[in-house]
Parts: sequence; structure tokens; C-alpha cells
Amino acid sequence: MILRFLIEIASTAKAVSQMISFLCPKGVNRSLRLCVQLLFIIMTEYDKAIEIVHEFVKNENLRKHMYAVAEAMRQYARKYGEDEDKWAAVGLLHDFDWEIHPTADEHPIKGSAILKERGYSDEIVRAILSHADYTGFERISLMEKTLFAVDELSGFIVACALVQPTKKLADVKTESVVKKMKKKEFARNVNRDDIINGAAGLGVPLEEHIEFTKNAIVGIADKMGM
Ligand SMILES: [Fe+2]
Repeated sequence: MILRFLIEIASTAKAVSQMISFLCPKGVNRSLRLCVQLLFIIMTEYDKAIEIVHEFVKNENLRKHMYAVAEAMRQYARKYGEDEDKWAAVGLLHDFDWEIHPTADEHPIKGSAILKERGYSDEIVRAILSHADYTGFERISLMEKTLFAVDELSGFIVACALVQPTKKLADVKTESVVKKMKKKEFARNVNRDDIINGAAGLGVPLEEHIEFTKNAIVGIADKMGM
């Protein structure tokens, strides 16, 4: 336990030092470096993840997908009494490398290597690796199971909102999400089995899971622009 704690501190320190070197190359005033250092230290896990998203993701729709997954993760963490900030950061980071690694043989494996280099813990890196079945990482922790459960579903809920006359997330009804899941032609890129298996893996009835995830995303409707 103590060893794990020390490793986490060392990882964080490494990430801080990499970020400082990036923001303040040699020659920059010492007090400015100190200010940046302090700022980085007080940044939350979520703030740090946002910086990475802004660095790697330019597509607005992909960013919104990550915001939606992050918020669903945050709300589930609150429900389960887990670390909200950490879970939201995992939701935010799960697809951060999609634009630079848009194929299954690279995403999220190469992205996870980048996160490791930046000092992210094995727990976070493993959760991100486990959201893709083909990586071979079994989903073990509650955080890993939740990430898988909300990922495809978040995209499906957004697709359901886009066909509403108002295009508003708040107008999406859980019953209509369930009905649309049975229509193969609707949002055909979204894997229904992943949604069903995700809820089952979490041990939450499908409709309850849809309702919970939908309400989480409705909570950031302004940020989603819908
Ligand atoms: Fe995703």
C-alpha cells in the first residue's frame, strides 16, 4: 500500500516536471516557473485531462463525446461513492488519441503509452485499455466496467437527441432509446451488444442504466450544445 502510494507520488512528480519543462523552457524566469508549478499542482485530475483533450482533439463532436462520457462517469462515481474527479478524467481521456490513432490496431494502445509517459497511473491506463474489447484487457474494477457501460450508450443517446424535433437531450425519453436500440438502421455504428453487456456487467437493469446516463448528460446540455 505504502509502496503504491510512493509510486503514485513519483508518477505525479514526473508528470509535473514534464509539464513544467514543456510550458517553461530553460531561461524562463524562476518565479514564473514556480507559479506554473504551483498552478499545475492545484489542478484537479479533470483539469489535467482537459489540457490533454485540448492538445490532441480538434474535432468538436469527438470532444463532446468525451465530455458526455466524462459526466456519466462522474455521476456514477458519485452514486457509488468513488473518486468523481478520477472517474471523470478517465471518461474524458478514453478516446483522446482517436484523431492520431484512428484504427483498432493503434487506439487506445498507443494512446495509453502516451498517458504512461505523462505519468498516469496503471489504474487509469488500464481502465482506458479495457474499454476496447480487442485489447484483451478484462474489465475488472468498477471504474472499468462503468467506462465500458457508458461509452457506446452516450453516443447512442446523443444520436437519439439529434432526431428529436427540438434536437434537445432533455427531450429524449428512455422508452424511445430502448425502442431505437431495436431498429438496426438507426445509428447503425453504435454497437447494441456493448450497451446491453455494459449494463449487465455493471449489474444495473438496462432501462435504469439508460435513464441514469441520459440524466447525467442532460446535466451538461449547455456544454453539449443540445
Ligand atoms: Fe468513446
